[in-house]
Amino acid sequence: PVEKEAKKTRIKNLLKEKGAVLVAHYYTDPVVQELADETGGFIADSLEMARFGARHDAETLIVAGVRFMGETSKILSPEKQVLMPTIEAECSLDLGCPVEEFSAFCDQYPDREVVVYANTSAAVKARADWVVTSSCALDIVESLDAQGKAIIWGPDKYLGSYIQKNTGADMLLWDSSCIVHEEFKAKGILDLKQVYPDAAVLVHPESPDSVVDIADVVGSTSQLLKASQEMSNNTFIVATDRGIFYKMQQASPGKRFLEAPTAGSGATCRSCAHCPWMAMNTLDALLECLESPSELNIIEVSDSLREDALRPLQRMLDFTA
Ligand code: 13P
Ligand code: SF4
Repeated sequence: PVEKEAKKTRIKNLLKEKGAVLVAHYYTDPVVQELADETGGFIADSLEMARFGARHDAETLIVAGVRFMGETSKILSPEKQVLMPTIEAECSLDLGCPVEEFSAFCDQYPDREVVVYANTSAAVKARADWVVTSSCALDIVESLDAQGKAIIWGPDKYLGSYIQKNTGADMLLWDSSCIVHEEFKAKGILDLKQVYPDAAVLVHPESPDSVVDIADVVGSTSQLLKASQEMSNNTFIVATDRGIFYKMQQASPGKRFLEAPTAGSGATCRSCAHCPWMAMNTLDALLECLESPSELNIIEVSDSLREDALRPLQRMLDFTA
């Protein structure tokens, strides 16, 4: 703990020295979220992280999250230096949607609007008409559907299927998923509900349909956090990354938050309720990125790619403004 406090102090001093602000996702480890809280930084979902970075007047943004979040910040704030504890923090959705294959798929259906989740590379965004996050995906698809537009959706098949069911939109779905959320199991959640009958079930829509179907609330990380504050239940079963418990507990100290059960445990589970890439945002990695940033820390997006990826991103920001 002494060493941890020493590292935190060093990081705080470096943030100040460099005029840098820490922007962290809800899924990062509590110690990183604490640092953001204690230094005037920001903890948020992927949509709000992007907005905050663009509005803030700091010269340097330290993005604690996964690669697409750093890239999105750079696309929206090209004049700022954007650093990440490591750009090796990937996302299975991004990895499951290589631009060449996705682009070839889109080429087969030129009349369809291409809507991609923010959890994608800058190159995939550049191929899209719209970028969405889980906070605004339903509203944007609903509005496109109302205009009679047919849609190509990528890459998360579960989020896509949730939106399709709720909007009735004509959507062709790319086949990829989140390795964290796909592990949640409806049976385990229902068993846990037997023990805590009053518990409300909060589910991120990257979870499988069977899990979404038994949810009391389905939403993005910020929407689930809000629900946990507003609902009168005392206990919550939460089907999303356990990093969110830091803010849920902080906002509602008297309430009980339980991890939704997953398929296995220990070695049999690849990523039980915690994203292995989010977990790469350690204090050591943060320190290193502030002390001597290398090509593993500095986020760059070429001008031409940036221009093309900005268009669908800006549409999302304008739609949700
Ligand atoms: P949010 O946009 O809900 O924060 O989700 C991002 C993410 O990666 C979920 O797994
Ligand atoms: Fe990607 Fe899933 Fe990790 Fe979110 S939790 S960053 S969707 S792998």
